[in-house]
Amino acid sequence: MKLLALSCALLFGLIAAPAHAASLYAGKAKAAAVCSQCHGIRTPSAGAPFPSLAGRDAGYLKLALEQYRDKTRVSEMMNNIAGSLSDKDIANLAAYYSKQ
Ligand code: HEC
Repeated sequence: MKLLALSCALLFGLIAAPAHAASLYAGKAKAAAVCSQCHGIRTPSAGAPFPSLAGRDAGYLKLALEQYRDKTRVSEMMNNIAGSLSDKDIANLAAYYSKQ
């Protein structure tokens, strides 16, 4: 019985694991609702001063968002927007944009 409980726990752990990975779906929803107004999604941004994000390196996007959030990178617009993002939001957004 103990063994059964243990294997259930292991199995559950395996099934639950992907929940910790970045979610492209959540990233897409957030990007469409918030970021795309300025940065676009698949198409290039509307233009300066909005840099394109599609296809950029995920690590770079994540770092930039963390820096905007903790204000070590200063931009009035992005500091406000990134201020409300969680670590999970940032991971999802970086994963989504990097795959466009
Ligand atoms: C109101 C317009 C606006 C919205 C909405 C917006 N951004 Fe930005 N974003 C900017 C501007 C302007 C810059 C350039 C700021 C600078 O010079 O650092 C920027 C820069 C960035 C950069 C740095 C790009 C680079 O080349 O270094 C990232 C990453 C980024 N935004 C991600 C996002 C994400 C993700 C969202 C949605 C949660 C978002 N932005 C929403 C205006 C916006």
